[in-house]
Amino acid sequence: MTSKLLQEFSTPFYLYDEEVIQNKVLFLNSLDFKFDFKFHFAVKANPNLAILNLIKKYNFGAEVVSAGELFKSLKAGFDPTSVIFDGPGKTEFDLKYAITQQIKSINVENLEEIAFINEYSLNKGLITNIGIRINPDIDAKTLDKITTGKSGGKFGVSVDQIDFESIAKFKGVRLTTLSEHIGSQITDHNQLISSYQKLISLADKINTSLKTIQTLDFGGGFGVIDHSDKKLNFRDWQNDLNQLLDGKSYNIIFEPGRYVVADSGELYTKVLYVKKSGNKKIIITDSSFSEYLRPALYDITPPIKVLNESQDLETYDIAGGICESTDYLAKDVQIPRVKQGDFIKLMNVGAYGSSMSSTYNSRPRPLEILKNKEEYRVIRSRDTLEDLCKNEIM
Ligand code: LLP
Repeated sequence: MTSKLLQEFSTPFYLYDEEVIQNKVLFLNSLDFKFDFKFHFAVKANPNLAILNLIKKYNFGAEVVSAGELFKSLKAGFDPTSVIFDGPGKTEFDLKYAITQQIKSINVENLEEIAFINEYSLNKGLITNIGIRINPDIDAKTLDKITTGKSGGKFGVSVDQIDFESIAKFKGVRLTTLSEHIGSQITDHNQLISSYQKLISLADKINTSLKTIQTLDFGGGFGVIDHSDKKLNFRDWQNDLNQLLDGKSYNIIFEPGRYVVADSGELYTKVLYVKKSGNKKIIITDSSFSEYLRPALYDITPPIKVLNESQDLETYDIAGGICESTDYLAKDVQIPRVKQGDFIKLMNVGAYGSSMSSTYNSRPRPLEILKNKEEYRVIRSRDTLEDLCKNEIM
């Protein structure tokens, strides 16, 4: 299928494998939990409508962080009652849209959001379910740039600042949920378990008097690490969770993004030029950090496969054509020798790949294709040059 695709479509393009996504969601749904649970896909990992629609079919809900993600989730077929809205900087527009759609929960991260949701809901004759994202002050032991549960950061609210009694008195909001998300790329399940423990104790404490907390939202963060077999031990995680929740009646929500889609995606790119610079050999490809930002932003190296027959290995830096010195896809990687016109694919780029792409340097955002065993179809066409001018007025 690959050579057919390369004949039919010009690079760069993202290719996703439906079966890989299906296996991930089926695995998560098959975990042997002794409590009520639901997985909500973190839409930011990959907001393509076809991917959202596929995941929705497996009884997943959605987790969104903007009006745009909410709109796309509803368009992809998620019921509003299976959508959760997170995010530290919700605008009035975001909040009004989420309130009028009466989604499952708006998880606030700033206490001022509560008064606004209350007032707007009352104006509309509604009662809105809310959660509060707690900052548990736990180190996720992951990359510094994607850790979110430590005190001093912008995420969540510290418990000592929350007056639960007053919140319970609001007539336009119903506080049903406590939530947290301590970071991404987590492989040490003990860090997750410790943060869950904190949330459970807090909910138990609140419920001794107020009895409002029905749902605990434990966030996502399950790691998929490039070039490493290190991964979350799901069995230990599941067993520890069953123990933690033994005798409790909370509904549990998880919000995985990366785990569901990362391995399903590849970015196909062409070698435009190969040059020598000092003691370096540099490949310039037709993909750049506009198409795949993560290496430049987080210093990670995606797994790379060269689509030629070469047996000789060479060490290269792989760069894009953006006029920025941070525009690299990989540095010092040993791969088969390439020549102009060869194809290279970056693997495990299904999460935070296309979703973090941009049109910087006025590059059209790439085509996206979804394949299964029998067929493939385009699920996002490449931007046209006219698209690059859309909404601009001369
Ligand atoms: N829930 C909340 C509230 C989140 O902020 C996130 C991710 C998730 C769930 C999903 O986390 P996941 O299961 O995908 O780790 N762009 C970075 C990742 C940033 C994740 C931001 N929040 C990357 O490319 O590594």
